[in-house]
Amino acid sequence: MVSGKPFLTVEQIHNKVGELAGRISADYQGKDLLAVGILKGAFIFFSDIVRVIRVPLMIDFLIASSYLKDESTGEVKIHYDIHEEIADKDVLLIEDIVDTGVTLNYLRERILMKGPRSLKICTFLDKKERREVDVPIDYVGFEIPNEFVVGYGLDYDNKFRNLPYISVFKKQT
Ligand code: IMP
Ligand code: MG
Repeated sequence: MVSGKPFLTVEQIHNKVGELAGRISADYQGKDLLAVGILKGAFIFFSDIVRVIRVPLMIDFLIASSYLKDESTGEVKIHYDIHEEIADKDVLLIEDIVDTGVTLNYLRERILMKGPRSLKICTFLDKKERREVDVPIDYVGFEIPNEFVVGYGLDYDNKFRNLPYISVFKKQT
């Protein structure tokens, strides 16, 4: 079940998106920004943040899923890959949450092989204490404790993505 009390409110989310967009807009002046949303989880954060980034940009998406066989190894599958040419682009990956870091590390190395002009990562949430693979993250919205959260694009079993705020999810026992 989803706890009734927001863990992060609509207002906190809105303010943080504005703050991150401000930093990104300043850092990407004069660059060729390609914002890449990692679906499905980042779909709401992505569409919120691109609308308040104040530099020209192009968008693309990546659909990836990770299958954790146990706590330490993960296998990442790509279901849709970036279609834009990235050699002359400053790529910014936009993710909903970083947990073990397995997914993002895999995507990062894969994109780096294609030789973008630059590559940075922005995540709305960071569960830092769960990290297993060290991935450099340039923009973090909120560092959160080791709780499973839903809403604002984040799901449990593809549900609760439409909650406008973020809540802690507890499995009913
Ligand atoms: P990682 O490869 O372990 O970093 O996994 C990251 C992915 O796991 C995210 O993109 C989410 O899809 C999912 N995930 C991790 N923690 C949560 C959570 O608390 N709520 C919803 N999805 C999560
Ligand atoms: Mg995700």
